[in-house]
Amino acid sequence: MISQDHYPLARTRFTAGISIIVPTYREVENIPLLLARIDALRRDRDLTLEVLFMDDDSRDGSIEAVERSGFDWARIIVRQGPRGLSAAVIDGFRAARYPVLFCMDCDLSHPPERIPAMILALDAGQQMVIGSRYVPGGSTDDDWGFWRWINSRIATLLARPLTQVRDPMSGFFALRKADFDQARDLNPVGYKIALELIVKCGLENVGEVPIHFSDRVHGVSKLTFREQLKYIQHLRRLYLHRFANAMYMAQFLVVGASGVVVNLSVLSLLKWAGLPDMLCLAGGIAVSVITNFLLNRRFTFSYAKDRPILKQFAGFVGASAVGMAVNYGVALYLNAHVLGAGPLSLQFAALGGIVAGMLFNFLGSRYFVFHKRFVKR
Ligand code: GDD
Ligand code: MN
Repeated sequence: MISQDHYPLARTRFTAGISIIVPTYREVENIPLLLARIDALRRDRDLTLEVLFMDDDSRDGSIEAVERSGFDWARIIVRQGPRGLSAAVIDGFRAARYPVLFCMDCDLSHPPERIPAMILALDAGQQMVIGSRYVPGGSTDDDWGFWRWINSRIATLLARPLTQVRDPMSGFFALRKADFDQARDLNPVGYKIALELIVKCGLENVGEVPIHFSDRVHGVSKLTFREQLKYIQHLRRLYLHRFANAMYMAQFLVVGASGVVVNLSVLSLLKWAGLPDMLCLAGGIAVSVITNFLLNRRFTFSYAKDRPILKQFAGFVGASAVGMAVNYGVALYLNAHVLGAGPLSLQFAALGGIVAGMLFNFLGSRYFVFHKRFVKR
């Protein structure tokens, strides 16, 4: 169905050309239909455009379908190697020749008739414009089952902390090539390419234009359950990118909490084996320092896990040496002079030592290392 919208805005503003990137995998039936609709739009609105099909070696006659169209503004690039929707789109953006980039599906789910409205939103100052199902005026075909709907909604909700956009899952969007070129370390797993770009290009002005999302008529969807699972992996990476320090801090704290458990367990074990209190306390601290180090190396700061381990360990111990000494001293003191010989007194002494060590590290940083006087005004 062709959208009935009217766009009474000046045609003369659409002077910059647009590159429409269409990822395809086995879409031979849809290629001529999409091209016909884009051609109608192109002539009606006098648009300068190119269409770039980014095909993952479908071998279903897609190449011939593009050639048969006879449009000199339509090209198909056949990728070899591993299949990937997002990677295909990124390759297409890089190969595009015009300053405005569009991405859309080939299966006619995304109405090309909305392209002018999206260009206008870009012209009005948006950095990215999304063809959106979830803003007022947007819709999906009625036969979307409950599961597809709830699935889409949960996926969108999980992305909320990363962007306020209502439909960041949409595969229909536009941005300037200049902004795309700013993207650093693009690493798209799965198919949420718009979300990847919003986070990695640090886009703040993202607009949404309502679309009606139609179900595909020809061919089958390529997004398997496995693809959808990759979304979780993708989200973890994006959260790490956006909230790097908070994520490291949270993981560091979880590891620290595990260290408390390790410390107390080792200490109890040594005590049970009949060792003197001095050694029990020292053993608890020593083993928990090692497990903390290993866990932080493996998870919290996993980006550095293939660097020399002994050097890292020396640094880790060095950085926490004074706090550890305070921990040990306080635990010894509490055990000898304060807590007496109750059933769990050694454990409480150790806990007191841990708290003292942590307090020392904190106060030392607050009033010594990061003392106010040292702050440049
Ligand atoms: N080059 C390439 N490689 N293209 C692919 C691949 C691939 O591995 N997998 C899918 N495509 C193409 C399809 O040919 C189609 O043009 C487009 O990517 C979208 O694939 P569909 O199989 O139609 O996906 P969908 O309808 O389930 O997903 C749609 O909705 C999602 C949100 O619900 C798409 O619009 C997604 O982009 C969107 O995120
Ligand atoms: Mn589709």
